[in-house]
Amino acid sequence: MSQIHSTAANLDSASVEEQRQLFPALQRTHQDSPLVYFDGPAGTQVPTSVISAISDYLTRCNSNLHGNFPTSQESDQWLHEVHCGAADFLGVSDPDEVIFGPNMTSLTFHLSRSLAKTWKPGDNVVVTRLDHDANVRPWVLAAEDAGVEVRMVPVDVADCTLDLEKLNKMLDSRTKLLAVGAASNSVGTINPVADIVERAHAVGALVYVDAVHYAPHRLVDCEQWNCDFLACSAYKFFGPHIGVLWGRRQLLESLVPYRLNPAPNVIPGRWMTGTQNHECLVGVLAAIDYLADLGRKLSGEHELLRRPALQRAFTAIENYERQLSTRLISGLIEMPQISVKGIVDPRRFDQRMPTLSFAHERLTSAEVTRRLGEQGICAWHGNYYAWELSHALGCEPEGMTRLGIVHYNTESEVERVLNAIVQL
Ligand SMILES: Cc1ncc(COP(=O)(O)O)c(C=O)c1O
Repeated sequence: MSQIHSTAANLDSASVEEQRQLFPALQRTHQDSPLVYFDGPAGTQVPTSVISAISDYLTRCNSNLHGNFPTSQESDQWLHEVHCGAADFLGVSDPDEVIFGPNMTSLTFHLSRSLAKTWKPGDNVVVTRLDHDANVRPWVLAAEDAGVEVRMVPVDVADCTLDLEKLNKMLDSRTKLLAVGAASNSVGTINPVADIVERAHAVGALVYVDAVHYAPHRLVDCEQWNCDFLACSAYKFFGPHIGVLWGRRQLLESLVPYRLNPAPNVIPGRWMTGTQNHECLVGVLAAIDYLADLGRKLSGEHELLRRPALQRAFTAIENYERQLSTRLISGLIEMPQISVKGIVDPRRFDQRMPTLSFAHERLTSAEVTRRLGEQGICAWHGNYYAWELSHALGCEPEGMTRLGIVHYNTESEVERVLNAIVQL
């Protein structure tokens, strides 16, 4: 499952400091101390290159597509480059298989309506209790419309992993779709996606993967996972608020999208409703290139193509985030008033992201984050839309406190957060 490759690329405190200089928001202070951003799972900060790309597009070639004049022609070219960059990011070779939209949720609803038209009573779809509701409710609602059954894979509450034995029992020849997350945005569990896809394909089901929480931490690999659809969101991986959906060409061409008559009927256009947010799409490319440049810089291989450069970057990110999250989790589990949900055994940390949720024995998550917020620590409270999981863990309605690390966070921030929590 681990993405570690044999390369010298590493992030250390000096290189992280260098990266931090590229993110203007990280210079922000609160009561004379730097703000600590442990809210990455809800959206990351963006580097200057992303901000400039958005602003340059608006300044120099803001236009609609397919016109016979320079700004429009340049916009066409830009959009093509964005599709190519996203294909590299997702590990696919066909840029036309990448669709953009306002966010992952809207794209999932969009596709769900078209897929549901192919379902018949007696069919079933399988979703999981570990997933963000954006990969549950669209399928539940579409199933209701089509009159098909929904089966929900339970979670082992001891370590917040999916019950794969139960999954096996739920899959059968009438399963049309399995919707599963690559990683939990609440407790950080990483699912064995390739294995799960194989199980679903064995009964002829399609697989829709939610990689929103996975994408800022590990290299997404649609080809290796062999899934049929995959969605993520650029605002979680250092880009602007744009959703990304990849699907197999044959499926994107054969399914019937809800589409306006004059709109293109070839992919990717047939799935991209209305006028797109061109400036932010250019920002998505800049975010991907920020990560690729990080890989080139850390490895010293300055001529690397985008995909191998991204591999280098994510190897370094994984190793660095592991160090920080190991310290954070070990510090938290020493506190008797804190109960960390999910995988806490360091020997299993390759099965989790540097994102965790905890309950405080006296304080609600809203109160914990309010007190942390007063000290300039950004952390999230509630269920963060991991609604089924929050219910399964018995944490509703208060939810839990979520701390999320990304590669621009530092060891000293982890110590500051631990000190703040112990004194709550
Ligand atoms: C795992 C996961 N899936 C889906 C979503 C929904 O993404 P979007 O806000 O792009 O609709 C989120 C957002 O937090 C998420 O964390």
